[in-house]
Amino acid sequence: MNKKKLIYTENIKLSERANRLIPGGAHTYSKGDDQFPANAPKIIDRGSGCKVWDVDGNEFTDMAMSLGTVIMGHAYEPVLEAVRKELNRGVNFLRPSVIEGELAELLVDLIPSAEMVKFGKHGSDAVTGAVKLARAYTGRKYVARCAEDAFNAIHDWFIGSTVITRGVPEEIQSLTLKFTYNDLASCEKLFAQHPGEIACFILEPISFVEPADGFLEKLKMLCEKNGTLLIFDEVVSGFRFDLGGAQKMIGVTPHLSAFGKAMANGFSVSALVGQKEFMRLGGITHEQERVFLLSTTHGGETHSIAASIACINEIKKQNAIKHFWDAGKALMEGIKNAAAETGAEKYISVSGYTVKPAFAFKDETGEVSMVARTLFLQETIARGLLMPYVVPCFAHKKEDIDFAVACIKDALQVMKDAAEGSGMAAAIEGRIVKPVFRKFN
Ligand SMILES: Cc1ncc(COP(=O)(O)O)c(C=O)c1O
Repeated sequence: MNKKKLIYTENIKLSERANRLIPGGAHTYSKGDDQFPANAPKIIDRGSGCKVWDVDGNEFTDMAMSLGTVIMGHAYEPVLEAVRKELNRGVNFLRPSVIEGELAELLVDLIPSAEMVKFGKHGSDAVTGAVKLARAYTGRKYVARCAEDAFNAIHDWFIGSTVITRGVPEEIQSLTLKFTYNDLASCEKLFAQHPGEIACFILEPISFVEPADGFLEKLKMLCEKNGTLLIFDEVVSGFRFDLGGAQKMIGVTPHLSAFGKAMANGFSVSALVGQKEFMRLGGITHEQERVFLLSTTHGGETHSIAASIACINEIKKQNAIKHFWDAGKALMEGIKNAAAETGAEKYISVSGYTVKPAFAFKDETGEVSMVARTLFLQETIARGLLMPYVVPCFAHKKEDIDFAVACIKDALQVMKDAAEGSGMAAAIEGRIVKPVFRKFN
């Protein structure tokens, strides 16, 4: 594959402005300069399908699809058509609009745990709403979260349990406990250490690893035995593993769950869903003490809700869930073959569900390494591929997967040559990428 001639005049100018005015230069840490090598495009101008163009007109194939939100493709016309229709009718009103009930009904039909629904704008709104409700329902203060989940919410109860604790009071930090996925004993231990004090267990029901030995069923039973709520964070898995969420696929129904990301093809909608017994506490008709659940000015924004209805209908109509699984499978197989053909198997590992592939990059010592990741990103970007992570979407067709695999094969060859020559670090032009969750810059 030829390397692209990447000229970044406008990119540099506009990125300097963004960095001068916006802390981190972006509104999501995973979009920041520290996440990408020096040759990455800095400012995106537009997208269509699985292609994006930067502000200098350079074209890239996008494997990340905007943090997993744009599940049907950039500027997907059936969703845009539904949005345009709502825009002309007004976008927010002093009382609920008809479309809120329409999406709520659709979600209740699709998601096993959904008897009632409350909308937000971000996955964090829905996840933290669920935690609040669990604390209110149980009258308990501790939250147990899965240690392997990379992210659940921007709020203090979660961020205080990461390495970036600055700004989160120690009292708050101490209220979030951690358990290990697929390790029921680690959950039992928390119950033994904090009897009658844990409000909820929250986790991504499936992420990269399969639930083993009935872990989720057993965790639900354990929670119920201890009067604790089970919350599934389906912000990523929802509308991707299955239209009814991972809970539908695996057949375990939590008490509450949170959806976001892919539910509106990039428009901002999230949903806290759950059983009536809990959700009704956020309402205005019960006789108990009130719970201030989610209440947001923009939660009922009509065009985002219309985008979600259109997105869900298109996923159904196009049988898109099957497409996500198949596209991911083709990519994973292509990468494994490319690694075998170049003899670079020891520099990349491919794992996880095909609908959510995971990659790790290793250096010449065999360790997973940011140097190896940087070199991989640098070499794929040089050939026109953006793949900081992979979210298979409906717009990824065979030719896009073939293109991605060809770019990756070249990148693996460069990694192998560097590893066997002067070392991977010497082949990097500029900075080494860093993890988002680190204590210091
Ligand atoms: C599993 C998971 N839950 C929750 C969130 C929070 O979603 P949002 O960024 O929309 O608040 C994320 C975001 O990446 C996530 O990956």
